[in-house]
Amino acid sequence: MNFFDELVIPPSDNHVMLVKYMLTISLLLFIPYISMMLGATFISTHFNKKGKTEGNNLYLRFAKDIVEKLTITKSAELALGTIPALSIFFAYAQLLYTAKTITVGMMALSVVLFILSFVFIYKYRGTFKLEGIMKAFKNISPKDALDTENENTQEIKDFEQNIVSTNSTAGTAGKWLLLAATYIFAGTMALASSPDKWANVGNILQIIFSWQTLFSFGAFVSLSGIISGGAIMFYFFSWDGGLKDMDESYAALVKNTAGRISLASGILFPLMLIISYAYLPQVSQSPTVFFYMAVVLIISLIVGNFVYSMFKNSDTASATAVFVLVFTLVLFNIIKDQIAFGNAIHENTIEITKLASDEEKELKGKTMQSTGIDAEAIFTQKCSACHKFDQKLVGPPYQETVPKYNGDAQKLAEFIFNPQKIDPAFPPMPNQGLKKKEANAMAQWLIDKVGKK
Ligand code: HEC
Repeated sequence: MNFFDELVIPPSDNHVMLVKYMLTISLLLFIPYISMMLGATFISTHFNKKGKTEGNNLYLRFAKDIVEKLTITKSAELALGTIPALSIFFAYAQLLYTAKTITVGMMALSVVLFILSFVFIYKYRGTFKLEGIMKAFKNISPKDALDTENENTQEIKDFEQNIVSTNSTAGTAGKWLLLAATYIFAGTMALASSPDKWANVGNILQIIFSWQTLFSFGAFVSLSGIISGGAIMFYFFSWDGGLKDMDESYAALVKNTAGRISLASGILFPLMLIISYAYLPQVSQSPTVFFYMAVVLIISLIVGNFVYSMFKNSDTASATAVFVLVFTLVLFNIIKDQIAFGNAIHENTIEITKLASDEEKELKGKTMQSTGIDAEAIFTQKCSACHKFDQKLVGPPYQETVPKYNGDAQKLAEFIFNPQKIDPAFPPMPNQGLKKKEANAMAQWLIDKVGKK
């Protein structure tokens, strides 16, 4: 029993299918988004710091542009980050219903960390706007106006100081929170696909200090590098005609960075992918999983090739092709992971769908009893003239006759539906003309009532 079982109901067969589709779609939105967020914050904070210490405006511009492009818009956070993260969590909670593993709890933790990191990252992004406004303000104010010491200039300087420090703290906090969230997320996904470890992994430290986590994190981060590299190329050079007013040195900086990141990740990713596959337990491996892994590897080689030629020949024409290929790669990678996960939880799925159908049957049983037939009303209208529970009227008291049936509602219903002569001490009971259903309900009601007394 895991803690989150209270939150969800066991999913039925059809429902499991639906949850799996929902999970795949959510991951398809979430993983590229998180990858771009990771790439954007790490590259941006790096150049931001470097630019500020070296006073290099090119670096500062790149720091700003990249976080603005790759984090898309503030509203993307909800559609691509928070909502998919929550659906992924609920999908796991449902698919791992009754499974004895801390996976679902860890997933919840990573979702919380993700959402927190988004807050800081968008705060970081926002401060660049303010810094820009400050700069513009300085440019239009008369020369040396800010050098004189007075109340106004002090306030402006404090404000500027404030923006700069918010910018760096928000950037740093967002970056590390996002990294921590991703690490736990990668470890949790890997654990979910390894049922053989469920019984042994009982706390977060075991997830953190695990080779399996490290390698799936490695796969995640290198995939994120490929995605970010592709996204930079796409947003800076292809989307909407590319970025306006990029001079040559700036374009070279962007291309170099994107190229280097994609190349390094492009080499690392296949390695990580193969190692993480080797870490999967026997139950989760299958020819289909292997096939999809091969497809992912081939696509990653093609992407690597494209990026390399873009990098080498300074040719940005295939940026869109790279972007599309990267998404195909992500799609197949998710399908591969999902099939492995499906294999891993196969037994649990059988168990929970059985649980669901039992629960459904029980529910149906209950509705039978309450099919709208009011046994008590029938008793008052049709039976009470001749019957009481504890006294003899025209007919014998129920307390003496009903127990004979020993709980056999079927048999009792037959008598009520079509009474036969039984006790010589009584006249025969006239047929009360009940419908079959009513007789059934009546019999059950009598058994329940007499049984209780
Ligand atoms: C007109 C009077 C009369 C009415 C109305 C009547 N009964 Fe009876 N009932 C009898 C008599 C008399 C007997 C005894 C019959 C016998 O033992 O052969 C009897 C017997 C029974 C028994 C005992 C059967 C047994 O195995 O000994 C049950 C149970 C019963 N009735 C249920 C009902 C129910 C339910 C209704 C209403 C839907 C109903 N009765 C309406 C007269 C009536």
